[in-house]
Amino acid sequence: MKRVLLVAGALLLSVGVGVAQQDAVNGAQDAMKANGKNLGGVLSPMFKGDKPYDQAAVDAALTQLDDTAKKLPTMFPASMKDAKWEGDFSPSPKIWEDKAGFDAKVASFAKAVTEAKAKIKDLDSLKANFPGIGKECGGCHETFRVKKG
Ligand code: HEC
Repeated sequence: MKRVLLVAGALLLSVGVGVAQQDAVNGAQDAMKANGKNLGGVLSPMFKGDKPYDQAAVDAALTQLDDTAKKLPTMFPASMKDAKWEGDFSPSPKIWEDKAGFDAKVASFAKAVTEAKAKIKDLDSLKANFPGIGKECGGCHETFRVKKG
């Protein structure tokens, strides 16, 4: 009986860990999808002149990017290493192998977003600061994101 309980307990524990891991994966994916929506769907069309400049939309987009910047330091815990990633992208193992390098990318992204929040007040300042944010996204993805398939 004791043994059965132990096995059941261990099973429950591993299910619990699996759920927590999947939550973390979903959280990271949701944050990145929101990044993509705000950069590609909100800021980029204004930058290109396809949509009129809209300060409220800019502020909302930058607030979301800022939220992601704050979550990034803990968004990819080591417990996530062997998690399953649905979709086209997964984190590179380099996130955990080169933690200092990853943290540096997080810090420079956070800095670019903070600066953009302080500076973007009109179309001209959007034009001046938008490319810098995009560069930070690409700079991290280049090393720390893997395209599957
Ligand atoms: C410090 C690293 C880092 C920064 C900065 C970063 N990303 Fe990512 N991004 C990742 C990693 C790692 C993945 C793969 C895992 C995931 O999806 O969360 C990813 C995945 C993505 C995906 C694919 C999500 C999916 O599964 O559909 C999109 C879209 C994306 N990022 C957009 C952006 C945009 C836009 C920015 C800049 C505003 C950005 N990211 C900044 C690390 C980063």
